[in-house]
Amino acid sequence: MAQIVGGLATSHIPAIGNAIAKGKQHEPYWKPFFDGFPPIHAWLQQVQPEVVVVFYNDHGLNFFLDKLPAFAIGAAAEYRHADEGWGIPTTAPLAGCPELSWHLVEQLTAAEFDLTVCQEMLVDHACTVPFQLFWPDQQPAPVRIVPIHINTVQFPLPTARRVYELGRAVGRAIGRWDDTRRVAVMGTGGLSHQLEGERAGFINKRFDLQFLQSMETNPQWATQFSDRELVELAGTQGVELLMWLAMRAALTEAGSGVRLVHRNYHIPISNTATGVIALEAMP
Ligand code: DHB
Ligand code: FE
Repeated sequence: MAQIVGGLATSHIPAIGNAIAKGKQHEPYWKPFFDGFPPIHAWLQQVQPEVVVVFYNDHGLNFFLDKLPAFAIGAAAEYRHADEGWGIPTTAPLAGCPELSWHLVEQLTAAEFDLTVCQEMLVDHACTVPFQLFWPDQQPAPVRIVPIHINTVQFPLPTARRVYELGRAVGRAIGRWDDTRRVAVMGTGGLSHQLEGERAGFINKRFDLQFLQSMETNPQWATQFSDRELVELAGTQGVELLMWLAMRAALTEAGSGVRLVHRNYHIPISNTATGVIALEAMP
């Protein structure tokens, strides 16, 4: 059976893609952010995940307000990035893993999570930037992916509790995949940020640090909050932390617990309080 080796999460700001394209990683503005990654690169070299299930939120590239599923899963052989109007150079397609996609579709549907299945799916910066951050020297990243989109764009959002249960169901389903490949789970987005309205620029360091700590020691902590409470605490786009929650919930099904590999928090990049974490699944 397949084995979950661990979980990854990072913020996914388009400006990061631009900084990578322009080689700005060592400039004073960027260094404290990029310095969060080398210890995680070393760990990835050791555990060598071959397939990554990535929870991310589409921002209008593949889905728009006219048709926006709460949850959707890719079942394609490759995932192309396209111009989103942010000015980020588009990256090489990411390789899909249709065999794991279809296994997840079957298992999740049996577990009463009926996701929209996308046999074609464009992926935006939320899916592409994290793979540039975690595998900077190997582009495209040397993994196959299964993207799972969670709506954070149009209210009402799926509840944190529902997202947590989805993550658990994904974790269980990966554990039942009749394949020997090493699988990692990833969540992208957050931490606190708000891009528009009266509270544009809103950041909540106290909340972010509590949330980061909960990833290590109290994975269900964020499920106590409604979507409106999450907006109040983390900002309208800070609700992207639901992706981290899904990743962490999947790890609860992977073994006896998690070991913190590394985490980092830095304010701000663009309008966002940035975070990154890697957690190893303990057998
Ligand atoms: C920014 C953050 C995001 O999460 C995003 O999707 C786009 C932009 C920002 O801070 O600029
Ligand atoms: Fe975003």
